[in-house]
Amino acid sequence: MPKKNMKAIDALQEAQKIAFAPFVFQTTVALRKLGVFDYIFDNNAKGGVTLSEIAKAKSLTEYGLSVLLEIAESADIVSLDGDGKYELTKIGYFLSYNPMTEVNLNFTQDVCYQGLFHLTDAIEEGKPSGLKELGNWKTVYEGLSQLPPNIQQSWFAFDHFYSDGIFEEALKIVFRKNPKLLFDIGGNTGKFALQCCNYNEDISIRIFDLPGQLKKALDNTKRAGFGERVQGTEIDWLSENPQIPTGADTIWMSQFLDCFSKEEILKILKTAVKAMGADTELIIIETYTDRQKFGNAKFTLEATSLYFTAIANGNSKMYKATELIDLANAAGLEVKEDINLGEFHTLFVCKKK
Ligand SMILES: C[S@@+](CC[C@H](N)C(=O)[O-])C[C@H]1O[C@@H](n2cnc3c(N)ncnc32)[C@H](O)[C@@H]1O
Repeated sequence: MPKKNMKAIDALQEAQKIAFAPFVFQTTVALRKLGVFDYIFDNNAKGGVTLSEIAKAKSLTEYGLSVLLEIAESADIVSLDGDGKYELTKIGYFLSYNPMTEVNLNFTQDVCYQGLFHLTDAIEEGKPSGLKELGNWKTVYEGLSQLPPNIQQSWFAFDHFYSDGIFEEALKIVFRKNPKLLFDIGGNTGKFALQCCNYNEDISIRIFDLPGQLKKALDNTKRAGFGERVQGTEIDWLSENPQIPTGADTIWMSQFLDCFSKEEILKILKTAVKAMGADTELIIIETYTDRQKFGNAKFTLEATSLYFTAIANGNSKMYKATELIDLANAAGLEVKEDINLGEFHTLFVCKKK
């Protein structure tokens, strides 16, 4: 329905959904955790289950279950028929079993929920004011390797969900020109370095990351038997004068630049340009808000921007492709190829001008 023509009563209903959005969200978290969604879904085929059947099966009080299921029904997560039987709706099904929804939901609950409370402060102060809910760091990246296991797991699951799937496709592009030395900027857990080593036996990788992450990445690559071929260098791109050496055939930045403000991105790209020869390829992979086919993907990216604002660093976001192209040009790069990868990503192959 065009929003302008929405009836006042419907708009009022939508406004209440927003006013109570955290209630619906926490209800969803609880129903998942308590195994209620699974139980209802398992019984969908036999025409649903009653409140007392669910309460008995899951050892919950009817009171507790009733408050959760009442709002879940109003939010179209479960349906209730005339015989008092609950079934999972399509929305409930996606909330329970869709992998993207699962990583987004766990990321929201474990990494962002408490920090988002400080969003207004973050906007006013230009700082990740919510980060204190996780730890006492300047950015979340400094603390990644020290996060409690469940929070760390949800952070990495979110990060990996949006990059794992496209690495295989990207490897074909990376190895077209048989690079011998690749710099992985923001190598994180070493996942891409591992895939490169498995894909091509001549490649050597040098990972650049903050100390805690770098250690994790090098432990992982060493454990996989690639200790000789994967080296690492500590770097903090927010320090005074970060530098990387020359000599790479390929410089790889996957979902890395979105961790920085535009000014910082310009500085990073200019530093990379100084380390590049005429044939060096700089490969940038990002999920851009102006390159999404589906509304749910654009919405996910917009929410991710708020995570950067309130929790991660206070000054970065998910950018438009046009913004990154302008920054690359300003840094002395030319975007030679512009390739869609998978459902969400865009890969730029850049050369020095
Ligand atoms: C979102 S992760 C991307 C990881 C990986 N490249 C991928 O595609 O999944 C960003 C990476 O950048 C690193 N990073 C963030 N801020 C940094 C900084 N100031 N200096 C160095 N590395 C940083 C983080 O530690 C993390 O490994």
